[in-house]
Amino acid sequence: MRHDWYERAQRVIPGGVNSPVRSFGSVGGEPVFVKRGAGSRIYTEDGRELIDCCQSWGALLFGHAHPMIMDAVADALERGTSFGIATAREVAFAEMLCCLVPEMDMVRAVNSGTEAVMTAVRVARGYTGRDCVVKFDGCYHGHSDAMLVKAGSGLLSGAESSSAGVPAATAADTLVVPYNDLDAVRTVVQNRGKDIAAIIVEPVAANMGLVLPQPGFLEGLRTLCDEVGCLLIFDEVITGFRFGPSTYGHLCGVPADLTCLGKIIGGGLPMAAVGGRKAVMELLSPCGPVYQAGTLSGNPLAVSAGLAMLQLLADGSIYEQLEKLGEALAQNVSAAKPNVFLQRRAGAFTPFISDTAPNNLADVQATRHADYAQLFQHALSKGVYLPPSPFETAFLSAAHTREDIAVIASALSDFQDGR
Ligand SMILES: Cc1ncc(COP(=O)(O)O)c(C=O)c1O
Repeated sequence: MRHDWYERAQRVIPGGVNSPVRSFGSVGGEPVFVKRGAGSRIYTEDGRELIDCCQSWGALLFGHAHPMIMDAVADALERGTSFGIATAREVAFAEMLCCLVPEMDMVRAVNSGTEAVMTAVRVARGYTGRDCVVKFDGCYHGHSDAMLVKAGSGLLSGAESSSAGVPAATAADTLVVPYNDLDAVRTVVQNRGKDIAAIIVEPVAANMGLVLPQPGFLEGLRTLCDEVGCLLIFDEVITGFRFGPSTYGHLCGVPADLTCLGKIIGGGLPMAAVGGRKAVMELLSPCGPVYQAGTLSGNPLAVSAGLAMLQLLADGSIYEQLEKLGEALAQNVSAAKPNVFLQRRAGAFTPFISDTAPNNLADVQATRHADYAQLFQHALSKGVYLPPSPFETAFLSAAHTREDIAVIASALSDFQDGR
């Protein structure tokens, strides 16, 4: 069944997509247009049924259209779509988040991960009275000016913006270091410590493909932040509630000062949050001098979906299920295709076309990522939708079955690579 949605989309939406990661720029061909989703499947406008390993970029821990989340949204819908006035549900949502993440005394709900990070960075600057932020090459923290920065030629000479339109002065306040490289962080901290408001990190990096923190890396960041008096921000937009019913920081015993959440906590609706200790969070207006606001923040539909999601995951049983599914996938792939290294944690994975696990962006760039286009197209032809970029993470959900895993594993294993 042919359709002309892409043609029409390109006329009225830049590139035909509302977020560049949906385009097929790095894998070739036309982006998929989804008509509906159910469980592990998406159904496209051109009549295909695909096993979805994108799961709204990790937001859908239980698959598409889970009945409890659908019911919660339907129930909320009957009572109105938005008030811009406080609701009891927002309080219940914040209480539940603070209960599941004991490091957080307070949370502020926002609409996207970008906003959560932007707010956390502003709070850190307000708290410390300093301007610089240290981030890691290959970590993505949304599209605010300060975070669209990549490593420049020298660690200490400041970074370069990774987007047009970002003022050089803004980029200069962001210092970029390689992921998993504590020595590099130490050097930056020694030289610029008095200027540094925060170190921000994805505690498990998931935006250069999946890259795991080396033992001691996160603990080392915590120590360096304490030494220099800056805040540690964990950007858990992907990792929050991904590996257990809490943040990664809580699960691994490294407390962040501020935690950014998104994706899963909204159950598939636009919802994100920033949380932390009372003394830090009370800097936000109207308590304190750091301004932040949002017409749709704490939107009743999103809060209801988020609450249903938190209730579904709170007993932790889904994580055993995801671990088993992920493990089965990794075993099948490594047995059939040894030159694909399936980097994985629970149900999150990246098939690196490489013999070894990357530790940072340079390692990722050294993998045979050009072959990912073949892998992607082959998987698509076998009915498996992977993220359309070699530098993203794929996600399994509780709705994926053992049969789905077998199909995904064979799609990842029997493509022709350029070797
Ligand atoms: C770690 C991380 N932080 C922030 C963001 C930005 O979130 P959003 O796309 O909701 O603005 C993302 C998005 O993928 C992310 O992965």
